[in-house]
Amino acid sequence: MPLTKDTIGVGFIGAGDISILHAAAVKKCPGAKLVGLWNRNQDRAQERAAQFGCKNYASPELLVNDPEIDAVFVLTNLETHLEYTAAALGAGKHVLVEKPVGVSVAEIERMKALADAKGLVCLPGHNYVYEASMVRTRELVEGGDLGRIVSAYVMYNIHHPEEVAKRYPGVVRQILTHHSYILLYLVGKPVELCAMKATLHYKEYPEEDIAMVQMRLANGALAHFCASFAADDHAADPWTVMVKVIGTAGSTRYSYRDHVEIKPGLVHSQTYTAYQGSITNEVRHFLVDCLRMGAKPLSTLDDAITAQKMIEAAEKSIAEKSVVRL
Ligand SMILES: NC(=O)c1ccc[n+]([C@@H]2O[C@H](COP(=O)([O-])OP(=O)(O)OC[C@H]3O[C@@H](n4cnc5c(N)ncnc54)[C@H](O)[C@@H]3O)[C@@H](O)[C@H]2O)c1
Repeated sequence: MPLTKDTIGVGFIGAGDISILHAAAVKKCPGAKLVGLWNRNQDRAQERAAQFGCKNYASPELLVNDPEIDAVFVLTNLETHLEYTAAALGAGKHVLVEKPVGVSVAEIERMKALADAKGLVCLPGHNYVYEASMVRTRELVEGGDLGRIVSAYVMYNIHHPEEVAKRYPGVVRQILTHHSYILLYLVGKPVELCAMKATLHYKEYPEEDIAMVQMRLANGALAHFCASFAADDHAADPWTVMVKVIGTAGSTRYSYRDHVEIKPGLVHSQTYTAYQGSITNEVRHFLVDCLRMGAKPLSTLDDAITAQKMIEAAEKSIAEKSVVRL
């Protein structure tokens, strides 16, 4: 049932770095308001509630049961996504859950079952697909305008200090999840893949800071992913974040470098404006297109399940040094 209230109330569970981007996005969204947040650490909770001009709830239960709140954004660490998503859906609230959505396929399937049972929207935080250039690429692929697709590339090279990386899983889960849902959205699911990873700049953190994946798509085309926290790419035409789809009749390109501000951006050495832009678009799609207009999300929990299967296949390939079929 589309929401008809004048103002859609939003609540944040988790007030870490990514909440800053989501708060800016809600502020820009017509007919929506950030009502309040809950964060495990109270110092951070008070600081962010003052910064965002919203309430600070004493518990996640109080937040999800507040009648003023219609949609809950789950912005905590990966391991707690299911717990807070289930609590919000249980209280009858729509949910936007950050990526990676769950620790396992079973966790994401559980979220889908809970959302479906209540007729609620549970939107995975697949922010990149809400960029206009991604939508246009998909239209060109679907319309056959690029001819036969021969290759697709998703490249990510953004240095992250080790103390920041330690808050996340390695880049296979943290970054290749983005790559996986982007590929699914643009050209579809791979049929087989092989992957490698390495740790090149972390001193103590045992996870990988670079990973690459080679894939074969259903039509026989090949695709490649690179995800690196190990170094920025300072070369001319850098592959900071670059997405390319190449076909026999044309090709497309998306780059973070189209809009760069020379100032640090959260944990990045420069501000890549498209990062905030993609979250702003995602939040507007969720609150306005999905909740108000009843549109189907561009990327769904089914895509999150397939993306998680791709991540688990990459982990299996790395562990076994093998090619894994999907
Ligand atoms: N879409 C994107 O491009 C993007 C970018 C960065 C992060 N993320 C995702 O957003 C989420 C948060 O990342 P972040 O960068 O804000 O991290 P962060 O470390 O800055 O914040 C994490 C938050 O989770 C809370 N938390 C940690 N353990 C908890 C627990 N056991 N119970 C309750 N709360 C707990 C912390 O208090 C903190 O507020 C992660 O899922 C991450 O993968 C997405």
